[in-house]
Amino acid sequence: MRFVPRRRPVPSGLPLALFLALFLALSCAAPARAGHGAPAGGKAAILVVAFGTSVPEARKAFDDMDAAVRQAFPGMAVHWAFTSNIIREKLAAQGQVTDSVPTALARLLDAGVTRLAVQSLHAIPGEEFHEKLVRTVRGFGGFDKVVIGQPLMSTDEDMAAVADALLSTFGPLRAGGEALVFMGHGTHHPANIYYPGLQWYLDQRDPLALVGTVEGTPSLEWVVARLAEKGVSRALLVPLMSVAGDHARNDMAGDEDDSWKSVLAARGIAARPVLQGLAEFAPLRELWLEHLRRAVAGLDGK
Ligand code: CO
Repeated sequence: MRFVPRRRPVPSGLPLALFLALFLALSCAAPARAGHGAPAGGKAAILVVAFGTSVPEARKAFDDMDAAVRQAFPGMAVHWAFTSNIIREKLAAQGQVTDSVPTALARLLDAGVTRLAVQSLHAIPGEEFHEKLVRTVRGFGGFDKVVIGQPLMSTDEDMAAVADALLSTFGPLRAGGEALVFMGHGTHHPANIYYPGLQWYLDQRDPLALVGTVEGTPSLEWVVARLAEKGVSRALLVPLMSVAGDHARNDMAGDEDDSWKSVLAARGIAARPVLQGLAEFAPLRELWLEHLRRAVAGLDGK
């Protein structure tokens, strides 16, 4: 995967001289790629932080975001870290090494980075963001300046912009009379308020666009009741997450009786799951990129 490149494998079968020539050619041909693993000479860098996923098909969301970040900030080294230890362990067992936030910070510091923009790919500033990202970054000395880009929804303006982007992205994919149901993660953390907050903004725009969460409020029960009240019999199910990983594939679209698709079907609502993460759609990616632009601008004290 493009976003977890670490070491170029040494082609042991090749003569050393040929390998060195090849290495030099590659290094010179793609100076921007020197940022992969070691931002040679670069003082400012970007660290993109996601919860992570171990679902191979879901990774396109991160690849798309990686490409968008590199395009928006040419010449800046771009690195990735996953906050989920379980996912990093699963990936490591498959031979794919992904940094944790502390490992990435240490690596960047080692590589001479002095100014760092850290962009969260989380949906809300909840526990993963505060505990695994902000707390770690703040406790890590050594950089001259570190600015953290906020998750997808961190302000009132963000929720309005997300509501607009969701409707412009998924509205055209709906069949007639189909409701739009967004499945957020949800949390016991106070930041859960962004989900009912987003619902308010959606309500102003589209009476058939609903937000539910797996672990917080609004609940799936609330979504089902509201769909029933409106006499809806079809829904497009969309994960409200950067990536369509385990929650999207199992909790939302799985065949088990308690998946959202099955619960809706049992209530007479035919659900059509979208197995793509928000980061696979340009209008949503743009909102995270805008937060990153602000963070990068902050590195210069602007
Ligand atoms: Co979860």
